[in-house]
Amino acid sequence: MKTAMSGKYAGQPALKDVFKDDFHVGVALSLDQISGNEPIAISLVEEHFDSITPENILKWEEVHPEPNKYRFEVTDRYVAFGEKHKMHIIGHTLVWFHQTPDWVFQDESGKPLGREALLEWMRDHIFTVMGRYRGRIQAWDVVNEAIAPDGQFRKCKWLDIVGEDYVLKAFEFARQADPAAELYYNDYDLENQSKREGAIRLIRGLQEKGVRVDGIGTQGHWFLDSPSLDEIETSIVALSEPGVKVMVTELDVGVLPFYPLDSKVVELSSFDPESQKKYNPYPNGLPDSVQKDLANRYAELFSLFRKHRDRLGRVTFWGVHDAQSWRNYIPIRGRTEYPMLFDRQCKPKLALDAIVRAAQTKSGNIGG
Ligand code: GLA
Repeated sequence: MKTAMSGKYAGQPALKDVFKDDFHVGVALSLDQISGNEPIAISLVEEHFDSITPENILKWEEVHPEPNKYRFEVTDRYVAFGEKHKMHIIGHTLVWFHQTPDWVFQDESGKPLGREALLEWMRDHIFTVMGRYRGRIQAWDVVNEAIAPDGQFRKCKWLDIVGEDYVLKAFEFARQADPAAELYYNDYDLENQSKREGAIRLIRGLQEKGVRVDGIGTQGHWFLDSPSLDEIETSIVALSEPGVKVMVTELDVGVLPFYPLDSKVVELSSFDPESQKKYNPYPNGLPDSVQKDLANRYAELFSLFRKHRDRLGRVTFWGVHDAQSWRNYIPIRGRTEYPMLFDRQCKPKLALDAIVRAAQTKSGNIGG
């Protein structure tokens, strides 16, 4: 078994080797990493992970910023990197309400498009982007975040203009664009029962109409104490019931106090000093006790994932190191978060060691 680079936990086995009989272990790559500006992070990616997801560069606004303009320079690099290292390459994401330019939904005079015209854009986008990487990107998040917390369709322009079958249309176009690719539905907070049931209804509805869905991605933007392990386990089991693979697609564990995500991003500097301390308690480093809590949380999660290895196809971390994480700027911009396995210097954290131990022992708990 190969061991990881030097550092605090030198001699540690690579994650992808530890879990090679269980599931893919993936990571989301930033633009900087793909562009070659973070060689140390990239060496960690090569060492530990056997699957990659692009954090942003394949989102509509990045790859297709203007009506007849596609930008494939960095996406080509992303795919070439994955191929060079024989990785399982993910495409993220084709149809989403967010990070999609306004022009997609409007005509030249700014009036809302009709159903057929919007479906034509959807088709053009899916055929062009998936078509370019046919046979090279093995799996796609076709639709992201279509369900609301109450289990109904989330209100968005795709729904308003096309109607509920926008999801079905996206899967049909994607299947035509690359018949061999695996096609997934991806969402967050699926531990919430009503939202999860809505997602499962959606998948079963597609299946009844003869549309094949290969997997459901549960994002896994979690916290130290919530959701509970029981809720996560219930969710993994339920999501696999329509006969699809389950993927944990965007794993990170926030250690900072919860702040509602649905509100607009707020600046930490706009808070009074007391609230700044409350919502950003560790600006100068993570206390050992919290570092251990994070390690134990990750150990428990990976013990659970291992238990359900027959249902899980992949576990992907949403970033390589703490400085990369979106959680530093959403929902509050300017916080110092610590959700990943590697710190801001790309040094392995206790959590990496704990995950490996969790795989080797039954409990993996590193103690208080
Ligand atoms: C969602 C998306 C990701 C990413 C995260 C956080 O989970 O699926 O692509 O944007 O939000 O930024």
